[in-house]
Amino acid sequence: MINVIGLGYIGLPTALMFASHGLEVVGTDYNKNLISKLKTGHLTFEEQGLDELFNAAVAKGIQFSDEYQTASTYIIAVPTPYDKNSKIIDASYVVSAIKNIMKVCPKGATMILESTVSPGTIDHFVRPIVEENGFKIGTDIHLVHAPERIIPGNMIYELTHNSRTIGADDKRIGEEVKRLYASFCQGEIVVTDIRTAEMTKVVENTFRDINIAFANELAKICRAGGMAVYEIIRIANKHPRVNILQPGPGVGGHCISVDPWFLVGDYPGLANIILAARKINDSMPEFVLGRINDIMKEKSIADVSRVGLYGLTYKENVDDVRESPTLQMLECMERHLASGIKVYDPWVKHDIVKNQYHDFDAFLNDVDMVVIMVGHSEIRENMDKLKEKIILDTRKICDMEGTYRL
Ligand SMILES: NC(=O)c1ccc[n+]([C@@H]2O[C@H](COP(=O)([O-])OP(=O)(O)OC[C@H]3O[C@@H](n4cnc5c(N)ncnc54)[C@H](O)[C@@H]3O)[C@@H](O)[C@H]2O)c1
Repeated sequence: MINVIGLGYIGLPTALMFASHGLEVVGTDYNKNLISKLKTGHLTFEEQGLDELFNAAVAKGIQFSDEYQTASTYIIAVPTPYDKNSKIIDASYVVSAIKNIMKVCPKGATMILESTVSPGTIDHFVRPIVEENGFKIGTDIHLVHAPERIIPGNMIYELTHNSRTIGADDKRIGEEVKRLYASFCQGEIVVTDIRTAEMTKVVENTFRDINIAFANELAKICRAGGMAVYEIIRIANKHPRVNILQPGPGVGGHCISVDPWFLVGDYPGLANIILAARKINDSMPEFVLGRINDIMKEKSIADVSRVGLYGLTYKENVDDVRESPTLQMLECMERHLASGIKVYDPWVKHDIVKNQYHDFDAFLNDVDMVVIMVGHSEIRENMDKLKEKIILDTRKICDMEGTYRL
C-alpha cells in the first residue's frame, strides 16, 4: 500500500494517478478540512482533467485520512519553502512528515521524497531521524528522492508524459521505484543517486529562472535605450542557437521563485548568476509599477483607483497565487503607501486583497486603464471588451493598437 503524505498541488494528483492505475493508495494530509472535503467528493483546487482523475481513483478505492498509515511505500509531497533571511531551505515540513511516518512505518518500507529539496537535505535532515528511530537505512528502510516536474495547468498530461528522475542509495531499489512510477508514467525514468536527483531538480528550476531573468533584463535595457524588446527578441531568435524567452511581470509560484534561493543560501559567493537572476525577477513587479506611473502621467490619469490589475495568480489558468507578481506588486505599493488600485482574477473566488472584484464587466466598468498581469483564457477570448481602455500588457497577448508593453 502507498501512503501519500501531503495532498496539495503535487500530492493529490500523484495519489489519484497511482490509485486510478490500480494501486492501493491512502492519501494523508494534516489539514482535516481538506481531508473532509476530499472524503465528501470535493476537489480542493481546480486543474484541467482533475475531476475525471478523481472519479477514476475513487472508483478504484482511494482512501483519504488525516492520519499516517502503516504502508510499504510512503510518498512525501509537503511544502519546502526557503527561509527569507538565510535563504536556505526550510525543511520543517519534511522533518515533521518523516517523524510522523517513523511512528507507523514497518521495517522494509520505502520512503520516497517528492518535494523539491536543496542538495544534501536527505543527508542532513532525513537520515538522522530515521536512524534515531532505530532503523538501519538500506535494510530496515529505503530512501528515495523522486522530484516532481509537472506544471500547474497541464498536470495530468505531464504526470503521464514527462521524464522523471529517481534518486536512490541502492540501484535495485531505484529500479523497483522506477517500475512503480512506470505504472502511469510513459516518459523516460532515469535512475541515479539521491544527491544527483536533489541537485538536478533545483538546477532545472534555476535554469528557468536565469533564462527568464535574461529576458526581463533585456526589457529594462531596451526600455531605457528606447528599443523595442519584443522585436529584438523575435529577430535574435532567428539565429539557430538563440532562444530568448519573453519578458514578463516577474516570477511566482512555489518552484521557480523559491528553489534557486537554496543554492544562494548554501553556496554564498558561488551562486552569483543565480542570485542576480533572482534579484532581476524579483524587481519586475516594481518595474511594472514604474510603467504604470509613466503611463498614468502620459494619459493624465490622476487617480490610481482608475487603474485595474487583471490577474492575481502566478500563471495563466490556475488558481495558485503563491509568490505571484501581482501580490508582490501590491505589497510594493503598500510600502509606498499607495492604495486604491483595483484587482480582478476569474480564478480567485475569495477576497484575498483590497479592492478585489469577482465580475469581469464590473471590474472593467470601474477602471480606465487595465494592466494585464496574467494571460488567462478569459481575457484572451474577450479582448474586444478592452477596446475603450488604456492597456498595459505585461504578457504580450494583446495586439490592439496603442497597447503599452513592458
Ligand atoms: N506546485 C507545483 O507546481 C510544484 C511542481 C513541482 C514540484 N513541487 C514541489 O512539491 C512540493 C509540494 O508542493 P505543493 O505545491 O504540492 O504544496 P501544497 O502547499 O499545495 O501542498 C502541500 C500539502 O502538504 C500538507 N502538509 C504539510 N505538512 C504536512 C505534514 N507534516 N503532514 C501531512 N501533511 C502535510 C499541507 O496541508 C498541504 O495540503 C514542494 O516541495 C514543491 O516545491 C511543486
